[in-house]
Amino acid sequence: MSKVNTEKKRYYEPAPQDIDVENFKKVVQSRRSVRKFTDKVIPAEILDDCLDMALLAPNSSNLQPWTFYVVQNPSKKKLLIKACLGQLAAKTAAELIVCVARTDRIDDMAKRNINEFPFPEVPPLVKKYYTYIPLNYKTGYFNALGNFKKVAFKVARTLDKQLPVTAFTPADAVLWASKTTALACENLVLALRAHSFDSCMMEGFDEPLVRKILDLNDQQYPVMVIGAGERAEDGVFFPQYRFDRELFIQKV
Ligand SMILES: Cc1cc2nc3c(=O)[nH]c(=O)nc-3n(C[C@H](O)[C@H](O)[C@H](O)COP(=O)(O)O)c2cc1C
Repeated sequence: MSKVNTEKKRYYEPAPQDIDVENFKKVVQSRRSVRKFTDKVIPAEILDDCLDMALLAPNSSNLQPWTFYVVQNPSKKKLLIKACLGQLAAKTAAELIVCVARTDRIDDMAKRNINEFPFPEVPPLVKKYYTYIPLNYKTGYFNALGNFKKVAFKVARTLDKQLPVTAFTPADAVLWASKTTALACENLVLALRAHSFDSCMMEGFDEPLVRKILDLNDQQYPVMVIGAGERAEDGVFFPQYRFDRELFIQKV
């Protein structure tokens, strides 16, 4: 008698094994903060490829709380350079990208996770997850939801219940969105490097002016501006150095 296969069919995505680690290392190790770029333009298709790679960054609950503004309008770009305190890295950059973390699209992104789930049938658990997960990252009007969660979490913890990271205050929500946005920023600069271009992450900028240039609402937070272009010969000011790894890595 043949055995009936009652095992649930699972999605399987093989992990490629043929990745060239040395080339990957070369990308990581040759990424430097470049403060002076040449006049060379970044071809549109390369910039798009880098932005697409940025969007592949891991992100909290797949809620993708970010927007990348590629500022190409000449008058806006001029103002943005001013907002970046006139830094050479901004002034000489072929492209300036403002990386914005957002807490204003949580519901929309949760709905999209249900509507655009990559299987024809959305598992009930997924539906449930995306119905409730927005509550985890939102804090509500006058922080009402945040305060409620503060009390509820305190009570739950007295019962030895383990609970996930949540936003109790708007600042927690900003941290949540910024954490994830910064990961996409790193993808972006590594992608640029892989295409032989370079970058400089900048948080030396006047936030109110950046907000004004992009007409950002108060739930959109410019995390950093990334200047990108071709590295000038004298674009890196000194060798890269890091402190003793023992200071940063602890095996416990
Ligand atoms: C969030 C962030 C903000 C930064 N802001 C600036 C900046 O405003 N101007 C600048 O010249 N470099 C800026 N940097 C670059 C750092 O100074 C640089 O990464 C650090 O000195 C290490 O050098 P490396 O990137 O070449 O390894 C920033 C980097 C990060 C990650």
